[in-house]
Amino acid sequence: MEYNQSEFLIETIVPQDELIISRTDLKGIITYANETFAQISGYSVDELIGKPHNCVRHPDMPKRAYKDMWNKLQNQQQWKGVVKNLRKDTGYYWVHATISGVYKDDKLVEYKSIRVPISYDEKLKYQKLYDNYRNIDKENIRRVIYS
Ligand SMILES: Cc1cc2nc3c(=O)[nH]c(=O)nc-3n(C[C@H](O)[C@H](O)[C@H](O)COP(=O)(O)O)c2cc1C
Repeated sequence: MEYNQSEFLIETIVPQDELIISRTDLKGIITYANETFAQISGYSVDELIGKPHNCVRHPDMPKRAYKDMWNKLQNQQQWKGVVKNLRKDTGYYWVHATISGVYKDDKLVEYKSIRVPISYDEKLKYQKLYDNYRNIDKENIRRVIYS
């Protein structure tokens, strides 16, 4: 997919009264997405299900955020953090995410994530922080596109 720089800069605002919800299998493949997730990410629910969750990974996100997330999840802990996500049309949206395990008969079977909007000041703070982390870690910009 081609993208142009102007689309890449368009933010979608997550409404205050909406929750973005998804579940994945243990490898991070989406097994459930609510309608709000579809609308905000620009995909349909059907398109999202079966895709790896990194389909919404934004190149501004530092690798260490996901490393920390997976470490926590693999140690049966909850992860909370601020995430900038990529829309299908290459725009973006910011959320605060809470990700944790889904257990059945005490066995970890899936992961779930609930996301809520954040303030403008938080977006500025995290954009600077993540830019800084990517600089420190000398990360190359990368993006994954699933058609
Ligand atoms: C329940 C759950 C929700 C996730 N939500 C997101 C998300 O909203 N955005 C995102 O970029 N990665 C999310 N991830 C992490 C991705 O699976 C992936 O690790 C991340 O995008 C980094 O991509 P990479 O592993 O290809 O580097 C989620 C993972 C799980 C288990």
